[in-house]
Amino acid sequence: MTWTPESWRQKPAAQQPSWPDTTELERVEKELASVPPLVFAGEARELQSYLGRVAEGKAFLLQAGDCAESFDGFNAVAIREKLRVILQMAVILTYSSGVPAIKVGRIAGQFAKPRSRPTETIDGTELPSFLGHMVNDMPFSETDRRPAPERLLRAYNQSASTLNLLRAFTKGGFADLHRVQAWNQEFVSSSNEGRRYMNLASEITRALQFMEAAGISSSHPEIHEAEFFTSHEALILQYEEALTRLDSLTGEFYDCSAHMLWIGERTRQLDGAHVEFLRGVKNPVGCKIGPTVEPGEILQLCELLNPERIPGRLTFITRMGAQTLGQNLPPLLEAVKDADHPVVWTCDPMHGNTFTSESGHKTRHFDDVMAEVKAFFSAHRQVGTWPGGIHIELTGEDVTECLGGGEEVQPKDLGRRYETMCDPRLNGRQSLDLAFQVAELMGG
Ligand code: PEP
Ligand code: CO
Repeated sequence: MTWTPESWRQKPAAQQPSWPDTTELERVEKELASVPPLVFAGEARELQSYLGRVAEGKAFLLQAGDCAESFDGFNAVAIREKLRVILQMAVILTYSSGVPAIKVGRIAGQFAKPRSRPTETIDGTELPSFLGHMVNDMPFSETDRRPAPERLLRAYNQSASTLNLLRAFTKGGFADLHRVQAWNQEFVSSSNEGRRYMNLASEITRALQFMEAAGISSSHPEIHEAEFFTSHEALILQYEEALTRLDSLTGEFYDCSAHMLWIGERTRQLDGAHVEFLRGVKNPVGCKIGPTVEPGEILQLCELLNPERIPGRLTFITRMGAQTLGQNLPPLLEAVKDADHPVVWTCDPMHGNTFTSESGHKTRHFDDVMAEVKAFFSAHRQVGTWPGGIHIELTGEDVTECLGGGEEVQPKDLGRRYETMCDPRLNGRQSLDLAFQVAELMGG
């Protein structure tokens, strides 16, 4: 079947809102089709070539950010703090492993959520589930839960200003490696992870000073600026289609809503609309892989999403749960290796380890997260493939959403700062702790 930006409409699409007003939806789609692209095709190609290096075992992918971005509390500080912790993690990984960490945020577009149930019933009232701010709102009322197309425009606008700030931070001095010591936050610096980070940061500063003293200039753009890319789950296909543009240089279609898009665990049906849409755009694409996937299915995904076997085009994001991954992953790695498909393998140690605490909070334990990462590394060692990266839900702030970590978050702490819109995120300290442990696994 030939692909067009709208050919997904001929296929069943899972996890879609039932939009009550389709005339309004079409009006919004038209408007979105004429707005400026958020990213350029050339940038998506650049990310794909970096990911190609990951596929070859010469770089590591750090993909991280919110489970769901919010329209509320949208401000510069929250964006800066998230960027800061990602930059810190990347420095830790790069310094210890000796390979570059490719930084991709779950940011500037991560507004739509698949749910385990399409509706929610409270006291006999049934309403649509909350599907992320791109679709509806969280409070349990008919007005808030009604899918509103106008939200697609708001998501676009918020993505544009988020991206604008990210570009300013990464190119305008904030991300300069000479400032590596200043990235540590106050609440982090007093902790063990924070002190460990400061030691590493001062080593880097000394290395830069040594280079200057030895007459080797440290004023390369690589040192003054950071490369940072954006990504989100391509869930609401009207939005993704409307932001798809024909690249004049190559004559190919790119989804210009983000550099990288991924397919979620609940929407990866081989004959479904999401696989159909993403097989045709030329961005690098990801696909979540849960515990039930079979080797044959993986190979079909490879054929559909990357028939030309371009390294960096396809990333598999495994999310199986700490208990399951050790069993399930190796046969998949073998199958893809035997078929000679150049994929990036990355580990999402979050989504397979979620449970509800006694206090009723959806949470994850840091030890389970680490256990899944460790099992991921040993599966790759066993098969002889490259553990290409990690995919993490985090925030730079001092939230208490995940249990454990260096300065343990206890079950009784969960209520103190539980702010996520959807899934629980690692806080700044837990994120650094994770980065140090991953760096150790990488042999640093
Ligand atoms: C997510 O990444 O927030 C998510 C919903 O993941 P998955 O599709 O793996 O369940
Ligand atoms: Co999530």
